[in-house]
Amino acid sequence: MVHKHILLVTSPSQGAINPALQLANQLIRMGVKVTIVTCVSAHRCMAKTTMTPEGLTFVFFSDGYDDGFKFGHGDFEHFISELNDRGSKKLAQLITASAEEGNPVTGLVYTMLQTWVAKVAQSFHIPSTLLWTQPATLFHLYFYYFSGYGDIIRSITNDPSCLVELPVLPQLSSRDLPSFLVHSNPDSDSKPCKDLLLAIKEQLHTLNEEANPRILVNTFDALEPEVLRAIEKLNLIAIGPLVPYAFLDRKHPSNSSFGADLFQKSRDYLEWLDSKLESSVVYVSFGSMAILSKRQVEEIARGLLGSHRPFLWVIRATENGEKEEDELSCREELDQLGMIVPWCSQVEVLSHPSLGCFVSHCGWNSSLECLMFGVPMVCFPQLFDQPTNAKLIEDVFKTGVRVTMNEDGIVEGEEIQRCIEVVMGGGEKGKEMNKNAKKWRDLAKEAAKEGGSMDMNLRAFVDEVEKDFI
Ligand code: UDX
Repeated sequence: MVHKHILLVTSPSQGAINPALQLANQLIRMGVKVTIVTCVSAHRCMAKTTMTPEGLTFVFFSDGYDDGFKFGHGDFEHFISELNDRGSKKLAQLITASAEEGNPVTGLVYTMLQTWVAKVAQSFHIPSTLLWTQPATLFHLYFYYFSGYGDIIRSITNDPSCLVELPVLPQLSSRDLPSFLVHSNPDSDSKPCKDLLLAIKEQLHTLNEEANPRILVNTFDALEPEVLRAIEKLNLIAIGPLVPYAFLDRKHPSNSSFGADLFQKSRDYLEWLDSKLESSVVYVSFGSMAILSKRQVEEIARGLLGSHRPFLWVIRATENGEKEEDELSCREELDQLGMIVPWCSQVEVLSHPSLGCFVSHCGWNSSLECLMFGVPMVCFPQLFDQPTNAKLIEDVFKTGVRVTMNEDGIVEGEEIQRCIEVVMGGGEKGKEMNKNAKKWRDLAKEAAKEGGSMDMNLRAFVDEVEKDFI
């Protein structure tokens, strides 16, 4: 009998690597051999602290951008074409070598923007599957954009008061749309957004061409039940929440969890959190990619100081290693009230009893982690899928409140303070959000436990892939 062996090809970004690692963990638990294939630049996302489970192998290849491709600052077409050429060669070599060693590859799984993987898989007659690392709602939105609803969606992008209604989605205004749908309309000159949208179009085209298209989605059945079933010809399989589990039960941490980290983490913040009252701390982070203006950072500082609550704030060092927090005008006051760190283990922080609320950019990993740990949010979306995720959190999951920008596109300190008060101030709205957050936490745990929807759906997927391979 051939042993199941899946190559998991992931983009080298933190937002893709984290769920890919968790998926690998689950597959290994089910007896599948997994090899993660990614670019050399992924080393950035894997600092020394990363633990890997037994049975997981890594293969790194150079895509020609070993320091990482900077979206919006480089030639995206060149990057994609290099990734395509070099990745395809490497993948073909790996598949051939694995077969020669008596350990043939039985399936390929790949994250977004890597349709070349599906092409290599086809040429070797190996089943391939997309791992979608955003909510099913976003997949649905892009699908409809390219299936006759593009004009309607584009028509609302210039008028924030207009709403668009798509099957099974909440009504959406332009502020709820992913940034590359808004900035890729014909009047916009944003080439990066247009390039990204084309890449998504190609991805959908590739899936449509497949006989049995399957998409693994980092969500869970109870979270997006209708959306998961809405596209008849594509099989969206909920295999999330792909969130590290060891911290679910802090008294019994296991070594079954592992993660990847952009920066070496400091540990002081855990002691600091331990010294705070239950549900008292505001955690602030904008993920691994978003870059905020200096003025915006100052406004966040004002909002945090105004709220008079202890806070843990992640400010990543700049590309040149500069610490932006050192330039903040009120640095001393900030240090008295809270703590600023360059990176942390977010799941450790979110699962800490002192956590009261997360001021977040609403990246999908962060959003799922919040749901998993029952933490209500102040939604402060920046780009990509984040505005749509914020819409889901505020209006569908009802576990957060979204900030409003002023005319200059800045969220002022008073507004941040107001939103923190809504979540943590003890009012009716905040109580409701906290109640909903606990409800989703229980449902997420249910999905993640043995025999839950994640387990069942992933096992069924593994069995199907095996049949396809035979
Ligand atoms: C990017 C896009 O911004 C996002 O919209 C998309 O859904 C995924 O890709 P990113 O900015 O990396 O995501 O945010 P997010 O998806 O939230 O992922 C960040 C990951 O880094 C999370 O798993 C979070 O736990 C982790 N993290 C973040 C840390 O471990 N420590 C930190 O200090 C900050």
